[in-house]
Amino acid sequence: MNAAIPEPLRRILDRARWAPSGDNTQPWRFEVVADDHLRVLGHDTRAHCVYDLDGHASQIAHGALLETLAIAATAEGLHADIQRQPGYPDSAPVYEVRLVRREGLAADPLVAMIERRTVQRRAMSGHPLDIAHKAALAASVPGYRLVWFEGFSQRWALARFMAANGKNRLTMPEAYPTHRDIIEWAAHFSEDRVPERAVGVDPMTARLMRWALRSWGRVEFLNTWLAGTVMPRLQLDLLPGLRCAAHLALVAERAPAGIDDYVAAGRALQRLWLVATSLGLFMQPEMTPVIFSRYVREGRPFTAVEAVRERAARLAARMEDWMGVDGAHQTVFMGRIGYGPAPAARSLRKPLSRLLMDGGR
Ligand SMILES: Cc1cc2nc3c(=O)[nH]c(=O)nc-3n(C[C@H](O)[C@H](O)[C@H](O)COP(=O)(O)O)c2cc1C
Repeated sequence: MNAAIPEPLRRILDRARWAPSGDNTQPWRFEVVADDHLRVLGHDTRAHCVYDLDGHASQIAHGALLETLAIAATAEGLHADIQRQPGYPDSAPVYEVRLVRREGLAADPLVAMIERRTVQRRAMSGHPLDIAHKAALAASVPGYRLVWFEGFSQRWALARFMAANGKNRLTMPEAYPTHRDIIEWAAHFSEDRVPERAVGVDPMTARLMRWALRSWGRVEFLNTWLAGTVMPRLQLDLLPGLRCAAHLALVAERAPAGIDDYVAAGRALQRLWLVATSLGLFMQPEMTPVIFSRYVREGRPFTAVEAVRERAARLAARMEDWMGVDGAHQTVFMGRIGYGPAPAARSLRKPLSRLLMDGGR
């Protein structure tokens, strides 16, 4: 660790790096400018990841990182004043962070949740959400509303919806490079990817996936002749989609229009996720239907496979039926939530030394 970084700053960054990002990409680097001034240099994966439409998923992750940083700063008695710098492209945003000492500033109790928060992709308890917990979650995201999908029939509808969306993910060649690259096989933990054991499939299915993902030809063969999407969708979408307390959508007051709206959404998401953690709840983001709906709505090409395009259009229409046209367009996040159990495997993070520009300043 670089000795030049003052201790409070090092502790803040060391906590901030635990923010979630799509596929654990950690699309950020840190530059220490002065003892009370740092820069977060963001990037995105839109050039090679079909899920990072216009970099929005990465921008949500930037927001989650900035929120985590602000919460971590309170443990040092510091307020983080965060501004996005003008003049940088959205694909490489720069966020200026000034740390201001505030007398009497109490540490945010969510500090203790930062490293505990983790995604749970496997089946959870179906115990319904406590009413007080729902109220606390709603209160954690001012300016947004939460739409709940609860009870057996709504969860079953969402589980089927996610399984249909899963068919799209698994049968579109455009998503293949991402699926091939993000899993660290035979691992419980991974610093820069998603470990196999946190994916949510059983070891047999994981072995088959590992074999298939060596080439798109193998995936196609499996899909065509051996109903290759059935087991993954059963284990990744259908069963966990049913076995949870609820699915939820985080809905903004207006449709997000640009990077600042997505960063703000990421800040809200992280606050929601940390509060959920403090209540003994686990979440799994279910972001891909939100992303594909946007492709459909904007008439943007995202796959050469006609069946995938048609299914995505049907799923986008179903979201509008459930939430209203405005509600669907204003949705910035979807996920499922439940009272554990905690996962036995999880993503870790790159060490701070790998995230610092020039090893510090
Ligand atoms: C913007 C965003 C989108 C995500 N989308 C998904 C998703 O669609 N499915 C999923 O299983 N996890 C999703 N995740 C969760 C990440 O994969 C996860 O946070 C990351 O691998 C780090 O793991 P951890 O949260 O357990 O620390 C998403 C996270 C973020 C921030």
